[in-house]
Amino acid sequence: MIHNGMEFDTYFKNYPDKDGFFGKYGGAYITEELKAAMDEITEAYFTICKSAKFISELRRIRKEFQGRPTPISHLERLSGKLGNVQLYVKREDLNHTGAHKLNHCMGEALLAKYMGKKKVIAETGAGQHGVALATAAAYFGLECDIYMGSVDIKKQAPNVARMKILGANVVEVTHGLATLKEAVDAAFAAYAREYKDSIYCIGSVLGPHPFPMMVRDFQSVVGIEAREQFMEMTGELPDAIVACVGGGSNAMGFFSGFLNDPVDIYGVEPLGRGTTLGDHAASLKYGEEGIMHGFNSLMLKDENGEPAPVYSVASGLDYPSSGPEHAFLHDLGRVTYDVIDDEDTIDAFFALSKTEGIIPAIESSHAVAYAIKLAQKMGRGSILINLSGRGDKDMDFIIEKYGIR
Ligand SMILES: Cc1ncc(COP(=O)(O)O)c(C=O)c1O
Repeated sequence: MIHNGMEFDTYFKNYPDKDGFFGKYGGAYITEELKAAMDEITEAYFTICKSAKFISELRRIRKEFQGRPTPISHLERLSGKLGNVQLYVKREDLNHTGAHKLNHCMGEALLAKYMGKKKVIAETGAGQHGVALATAAAYFGLECDIYMGSVDIKKQAPNVARMKILGANVVEVTHGLATLKEAVDAAFAAYAREYKDSIYCIGSVLGPHPFPMMVRDFQSVVGIEAREQFMEMTGELPDAIVACVGGGSNAMGFFSGFLNDPVDIYGVEPLGRGTTLGDHAASLKYGEEGIMHGFNSLMLKDENGEPAPVYSVASGLDYPSSGPEHAFLHDLGRVTYDVIDDEDTIDAFFALSKTEGIIPAIESSHAVAYAIKLAQKMGRGSILINLSGRGDKDMDFIIEKYGIR
């Protein structure tokens, strides 16, 4: 399919290019020493991860340990309130550990094992990536250091406990806003010290090459499964698909199954408290080109050109940039990136819980809220939402801040 002059039949062969670029975005803006470590991972990825042995082991793990394939559910009661639009959700909340993050963590940790590394290192925001990586580390018998901002440690206490129970070392990051960006800074610094025996397992389609490509490829199982399942369920493709975008891993994996189809694709960023800089984390909608954490993408900047402070009710979405492939798809016009604020998100959180018996993660609730608005605009058709995770981790925070509605 050709979209705005871009041939999507050959898209995955061409992007990223050999240096990790999606057009002008991506790359690897890091020290020579770290570049050598990244080149080792890239090399290993292309030789090991494309081997039949690796692929069949990962497939077995996904089926027997993760519980894949995750189903698609028709939101019958919610759709009934929206006229002639039918809403469906891809149930990544039913993936083991409660979110999509395990899809790339099992891949990254399996790669670490094949490379003979002893430890995995990562950052986490909502704690979902940390829990997923701690799970993968326990499964493969690897050491695991997870860097997390003190604000998120408090907000996501159940996930902190889970990581510790799984045997991970949770390292508190106290500088700056003490949220996701600072956790990435600290994890990178640790990896620069320890790269010989460890592997960095970034939590999204972010960071220097090869991570945006590798994480997308491991997450593409979501889009591949969803496309096949939806066709089997309904006999046709959805008219639109929707996913929330923080760093962008659940969205990129989901979108990759539909890029070459006549399907409208929407990425939803957090508008938080509003459009003022510092009150949201919508980098694709409001950001400009900039380099951070080793990659070039769209980024929210302060008056000095540094990454701006960001905010979202969802800890997993409050990052001042997004993956380079999203910036590329944004500029190409293949994906529409739009925003949803905290209030609509929390309304959607309760609506999905009460009408369908599914308590979504606050991150995923952004996608649900957007799909509800989109349905009202579309009037008829079908929308498939990627429900990236479940809301168990958010219970304490929701009850304390919003009460039970
Ligand atoms: C359930 C859930 N969805 C979405 C995200 C956002 O990450 P990404 O944009 O990489 O999918 C997170 C991050 O922690 C998450 O926990």
